[in-house]
Amino acid sequence: MRPSIKREQIESLHELGFVARRENVIFLGPPGVGKTHLAISLAIIAAKHGQRVYYGSLVDLISSLEEAQVAGQLKRRLAVLTHPSLLVVDEIGYLPVTHTGAVLFFQLMTRRYERASTVLTSNRGFEEWGEIFGDEVMAAALIDRLLHHRHLVNIRGNSYRMREHTALSQALRSEAEAPSTTRQRRSSRSVNTR
Ligand SMILES: Nc1ncnc2c1ncn2[C@@H]1O[C@H](COP(=O)(O)OP(=O)(O)OP(=O)(O)O)[C@@H](O)[C@H]1O
Ligand SMILES: [Mg+2]
Repeated sequence: MRPSIKREQIESLHELGFVARRENVIFLGPPGVGKTHLAISLAIIAAKHGQRVYYGSLVDLISSLEEAQVAGQLKRRLAVLTHPSLLVVDEIGYLPVTHTGAVLFFQLMTRRYERASTVLTSNRGFEEWGEIFGDEVMAAALIDRLLHHRHLVNIRGNSYRMREHTALSQALRSEAEAPSTTRQRRSSRSVNTR
C-alpha cells in the first residue's frame, strides 16, 4: 500500500500558519513512509520565507546538549536551540535515550513551548514514548506540551524504500526470466554502444 496522507493538510502546513502561531507538527508512521522528507520540506519552505530553522535527529540534539552541559555551556546551547522559529526533531524512537538526555530534551521542549514551532517525526506511537525516554511521567508531560497546539499527521502504508527494492528485484527477475535470445540481443547491443 502506497503511503497515504491528506493532500490538503500537507498543503495547508506549507502555508506556514503553524509557524506564525507557534504550533507543533508531528509526523508519525512506520519506516520509509516520508516523515523526514515532509519535515525537511517544511523547514526548506520556512527558510525560504526568511525564518530561522534548525534540523537534528533526537540523538544529535541530545548529544549537543550533553556536550554543552559538560563544557558548562548548557544555558547558552539551550538558548541557541530555543531561538529558531522552526526546529525539526527527527527520528524519535529509533535509538534509546539516556535519562540525562531525556531531561535535557525535556528542558528544551519546555523552553520552546508556546514560543516557537517544533516539527517532530517518530516511528513509534505516543504510547511507546515512555519507553523511548525511559520515564513515563516525563514522556507524558512532554506529549502534553507537544499536543496542546499541534497538527498530527499519521502516515500509513509501506516504505518508499521497499517499493524501490521491490521494483528493482522485479526488474532483475524479469531480466533473468527473459528468453535467452532477448538477453543475447540486449548484451550485444550494450557491447556495441560502449
Ligand atoms: N512522496 C514521496 N514520493 C516518492 N518518494 C518519496 C516520497 N517521500 C519520501 N520519498 C522517498 O522515500 C524514502 C524514505 O523517505 P523518508 O526518509 O522521508 O522516510 P521516513 O519516514 O523518514 O523513514 P525513517 O522512519 O526510516 O526515517 C526516501 O528515499 C525519500 O526520498
Ligand atoms: Mg526519517
